[in-house]
Amino acid sequence: MHSQINFGYPWAVNYGHLVVAVAFLAIFCLGWFRKWHKALVALVGLAMVWAFASFVMVRFGFNMNGRATLPTEAFMRSGTGKVLDMGAGTGRSTLMVLEARPQSTVVALDSFSDSYVEHFGDQKSGAVVDQGRARLLANLRAAGVERRATIQPGDMRQMPLESDTFDAVVSAYAIDHLGRAGIRESLSEANRVLKPRGEFLLMVIAKDFWLEFTFGPLLMHARMVLPDFWERNLRDAGFEIVEQGTRPATKYILARKA
Ligand SMILES: C[S@@+](CC[C@H](N)C(=O)[O-])C[C@H]1O[C@@H](n2cnc3c(N)ncnc32)[C@H](O)[C@@H]1O
Repeated sequence: MHSQINFGYPWAVNYGHLVVAVAFLAIFCLGWFRKWHKALVALVGLAMVWAFASFVMVRFGFNMNGRATLPTEAFMRSGTGKVLDMGAGTGRSTLMVLEARPQSTVVALDSFSDSYVEHFGDQKSGAVVDQGRARLLANLRAAGVERRATIQPGDMRQMPLESDTFDAVVSAYAIDHLGRAGIRESLSEANRVLKPRGEFLLMVIAKDFWLEFTFGPLLMHARMVLPDFWERNLRDAGFEIVEQGTRPATKYILARKA
């Protein structure tokens, strides 16, 4: 059943380092047999090892097309409730919640617009919203959780959702794609739709050792350089911080509506 799930993160991101490693291996062999200068062969060998190690880290460490697990068990400890996933994409974060919390329901919200196409591509001609809905629904069905999820097209900066209606909100690798004003609007929207004392699990890309090692300057998410950026903005939006931590290339913050 799970084999049909396809989160759709690009092949080039997941396997690009392997292609580079094979290219360096070919150059390394050429240099070795043609007896190039030892320092040059060693340099190519080093580049090959870096590319291969990066491939292993991206493919098996970040594992973007694999299942995500909750970064903290403290999120929705009661196990039940109505959750909003802001920027659900193809459903990776939605499944993360539905599978870890089998008594929960999730509203999966995504704009299915330019940012969606940038990440997941335009599969066939036609409205991106329809394609986005269909791909997300296919993944929910493949996991057997579609009856506990609703797909809601919409912009997280101004959500078509009533105030004080969700027990929890999750957002994974989505809010950090917005500019400063968009981030402020989205965090304030998350606060608005939460019930009093509702929980917010925010996951964003973190510029840590692993991200620097694998992608260097190639993968730039605007907001990841300022150390307390997210904490400050969460507090300004009316949240108190409950817990925070890191995973490779990820920072998570569990907050509560104050
Ligand atoms: C990197 S994907 C993350 C998807 C999913 N949360 C995951 O963990 O795989 C970012 C998603 O945010 C969505 N997004 C970006 N800006 C948005 C906005 N203003 N409103 C709603 N969704 C947005 C994109 O369409 C995209 O699907």
